[in-house]
Amino acid sequence: MTEAPRNKTAGNIWSHYNPVRITSGQGAIDRLFSLDPPVAVGKRIFMVTSTGFTARGVTAQIEAQGRKHGLKNPILVFDGATPNPELDLLDRIATGLRGKGITRIIALGGGSVLDTAKAISVALPSDLEAPLDMVLRQGNPHKWKSRIPVVAVPTTAGTGAEVTPFATVWDSENKKKYSVSGEMVYPSHALLDPELTLTLPPKETLYTGLDAISHALESLWNKNRTPVSEALALKSLSLANEALPAVLKQPESLYFREMMQQAALLAGLAISRTRTAIAHAISYPLTMRFGVPHGLACSFTLPGLIRHYTQALNPDPRNAAMHDTLEILESLNLKAEIANYTGGEDLSKYVDEMLYPDRAWLYSKSINRMDLVCLLAK
Ligand SMILES: [Fe+2]
Repeated sequence: MTEAPRNKTAGNIWSHYNPVRITSGQGAIDRLFSLDPPVAVGKRIFMVTSTGFTARGVTAQIEAQGRKHGLKNPILVFDGATPNPELDLLDRIATGLRGKGITRIIALGGGSVLDTAKAISVALPSDLEAPLDMVLRQGNPHKWKSRIPVVAVPTTAGTGAEVTPFATVWDSENKKKYSVSGEMVYPSHALLDPELTLTLPPKETLYTGLDAISHALESLWNKNRTPVSEALALKSLSLANEALPAVLKQPESLYFREMMQQAALLAGLAISRTRTAIAHAISYPLTMRFGVPHGLACSFTLPGLIRHYTQALNPDPRNAAMHDTLEILESLNLKAEIANYTGGEDLSKYVDEMLYPDRAWLYSKSINRMDLVCLLAK
């Protein structure tokens, strides 16, 4: 009889939970106003998006769809969402919406749009005056007790924010990044239509795809991993390994767009349990200081981290998928991409910020300051 392999999760009690209702497929956007439970037609909807969708007519199409479904009140639209949403702006929007009878929020856009909507969804019903400032910046021990349900409609294939219980908000003046998190932060619905990702420019397709890959890897090497998160992350990685190179070559392919969207969704489901780890910890100071796009900032160290993680492991099915990913990442020459933002500055001076314990400690292998300096130098 063969001996049972040693598995870190074996023998441990684990749990997995994700309450987001998912609807996915070509044309799924047409179900926006017939989701279960349906939007109450007499109530007020707030929609968060970015100017591009309004300019391309998508916002107007959604407003028309709402009227067709008997929506009595016009949708309140905020289309000024920007990358890396600012804490003070979110507080102002949330408190400005009080008393307007908002019963549902639609978020149409990339990760920052979804994070904007999720942060507002818990800040709006809070009884605090400037909730995000008081809870995140001032450390008030307030729990998010209620929310306005969010229908998350991602238009990129990367963040997985449509199924996670956290939203990243930024305080650029004080060079800080915070996470709004907790059960109330889950969107109520995720609506995924691959057609919405067809207009994504090449760079954003690449960077958001890299974010999804980073999530799958960060979940696989995470101290919080469970058999469920591991299965989700492995499937995500194998889909992304096929879809990302293909979609970069054939951006008009709905087949590969959908495959990449599924990869991002599965990775999002995986990190909704585990959270991210060291690659994301490394990314935050670079996004804050140099404006490095999130997907690039959290992926340029992945080749080094894959080597660091797999070097001492016994034969493990995760390694095969990781090595396929390694080949793809190396072909992309991400170090050169990142130098376009950092001007080639020595990044090792930021290692103390990168070892920010909230995320870095979730990496299941030990990594010290010197390892990180070497990783950044290679
Ligand atoms: Fe990420």
